[in-house]
Formats: sequence, C-alpha cells, structure tokens
Amino acid sequence: MQALVVYESLWGNTEAVARAISHRFSSTMAVELVVSDAAPPDFTDVDLLVVGGPTHAFSMTRATTRQDAVANQGAPRAPVRGIREWLADLDRPATPTRAATFDTRTDKPRLPGSAARAAAKRLSRLGFDLIGEPMSFRVSGYGGPLLDGELERAAAWATQLTTELPPH
Ligand SMILES: Cc1cc2nc3c(=O)[nH]c(=O)nc-3n(C[C@H](O)[C@H](O)[C@H](O)COP(=O)(O)O)c2cc1C
Repeated sequence: MQALVVYESLWGNTEAVARAISHRFSSTMAVELVVSDAAPPDFTDVDLLVVGGPTHAFSMTRATTRQDAVANQGAPRAPVRGIREWLADLDRPATPTRAATFDTRTDKPRLPGSAARAAAKRLSRLGFDLIGEPMSFRVSGYGGPLLDGELERAAAWATQLTTELPPH
C-alpha cells in the first residue's frame, strides 16, 4: 500500500495536520508527503491520495488570497502553487485510485465554504474514488495555532481512512 499526502500551508497549521495524517499512515503503509508546489506524480503506484489545504475566501486558496495573507495578515510565506493549481494539473487516474481531502479553517467566526469540499469535487470529477467525508480542522484566528485536540482528530481520521481501503 502506498499513500501520497499533498498539502499547502502558509502558517504551518495545515502542514502539521498533513504530518499527523502521514505519521499515522506510516504505521500501516508506505507514505510520501509532498507540498503542492511540486508537479503531480504518475499515479500507477498510489493507492490513496490525500489532499489538504487552508480554506481561503470560502474555498481553496488562489494566488490573490495567498498574496493578501502575506501582505495584510502576517503570513510568513505563500506557496507559488497551492492545491487548486496542483489539482488543475492532475490527470484522470489510469487505475482506480482512492482519494480523501481535508482543510483547515478558522474557528471564529464559523464561515461557510470549505477547501476540502472544493478539492473533493475536483477529484470526483477526475474519476478518483472519494473515501471519508471532506474533513475540516480548526485553527485560532488566521495564523493558528490549531485548536487543542485537532492533531489527535487528524490521526483518528487517518486511521478511519485506512479502514476504508481494500485489503492488499
Ligand atoms: C485571505 C484569507 C482568507 C481566509 N478565508 C477563510 C474562510 O473563508 N473561511 C475560514 O474558515 N477561514 C479562512 N481563513 C483562515 C484560514 O483558513 C487559516 O489561515 C488557515 O487555516 C491557516 O492554515 P495554514 O497555517 O496552513 O496556512 C482565511 C485566511 C486568509 C489569509
């Protein structure tokens, strides 16, 4: 079994969630953790693709929202390419491939819209088999940190995903 976890993160909260998920996967399968700046790989060896990013303006980030985060919100860095661009470059999988998505969102105020749901829609249209519900993890303010217990919830979500994979 091979999992690929792709993430984007400005302050590091989504990265921390991606690492918690990858760490949990690594007890049962091979896992590669990559940032969305890299081009999508060939999918023949991947059994499970997990994509995660921050929610900006009710959906996946855009170049404009990432720049706004750095210019006006104090974000330390902005990736050149987020998961929106990564997914735009992704081809239809040649063999059946499962996929799941997550995002991070601010705790207050609770806003509608979710990068995870938008990413899931794109993956579903490409023909990936979605497993689990798109999952949101909450941060304080815009910069975080993650709320207490969110990393544990991420690890539990990862365990849940592995139970939805067929036996190998
Ligand atoms: C420009 C901008 C727009 C945002 N829009 C939303 C939003 O619509 N809904 C939400 O819950 N959080 C929103 N946030 C908060 C982000 O989700 C939060 O910064 C992110 O989860 C932090 O993750 P990171 O550390 O991986 O970048 C926004 C943040 C920025 C900078």
